[in-house]
Amino acid sequence: MSDTAAAPTSEFLNRILCERRTVHDFAARSVPQALIDSALETVRWAPNHHRTEPWHIYLLGPVAQQAIAELNSKKVLESRGERAAEIKLARWLAMPGWLVMTCDRSDDELREREDYAACCCAAQNFMLSLWGNGVGVKWTTGEVVRSTAFSEVVGFNRATESVVGLFWYGWPAQVNEQHRRPLADFLKFVD
Ligand SMILES: Cc1cc2nc3c(=O)[nH]c(=O)nc-3n(C[C@H](O)[C@H](O)[C@H](O)COP(=O)(O)O)c2cc1C
Repeated sequence: MSDTAAAPTSEFLNRILCERRTVHDFAARSVPQALIDSALETVRWAPNHHRTEPWHIYLLGPVAQQAIAELNSKKVLESRGERAAEIKLARWLAMPGWLVMTCDRSDDELREREDYAACCCAAQNFMLSLWGNGVGVKWTTGEVVRSTAFSEVVGFNRATESVVGLFWYGWPAQVNEQHRRPLADFLKFVD
């Protein structure tokens, strides 16, 4: 890449990096599959020590979506009652796009840690690619995604794969503001 060509691209990239926000509320309109496909392409180019390529992607259709929304609603019913469970069920069923990423487990603690790190980079690639096209994502790791019932619905083996997240994607109905500590709070120059 030449220096002259890099300037406007890197400015655009920095804006995507800093302005990407977790989206909690989506419009009902679905995202064209071509945008999802091109975001998925970026997943496999995430940095990855030893190129273990530890990620697995599951795109969920309506049957799995319904089953997971009901699993979650059942958990909410137990902890917060019927009204809260109904609200949650309706909210989850309104999520337009559903993707699950899992990561290979390993007996080697360092490898497992580095593989999870690579999966997080892959997840960020996916989110940033979509955000660059105006599509938002919510990464969620709530209790239900760690249950055996969840792995059975999605169809992966919990003994060999761990959940990185459930990712909802769609056109944002609203984008919330966010704040971060200033760089000076955590930046140190070391001689
Ligand atoms: C590993 C991981 C798990 C997350 N799980 C949840 C979650 O379960 N529920 C949720 O509302 N947000 C979840 N988030 C999104 C964060 O809450 C969000 O990134 C944070 O509030 C900062 O907002 P921003 O993404 O708009 O900068 C998760 C993010 C990461 C990286």
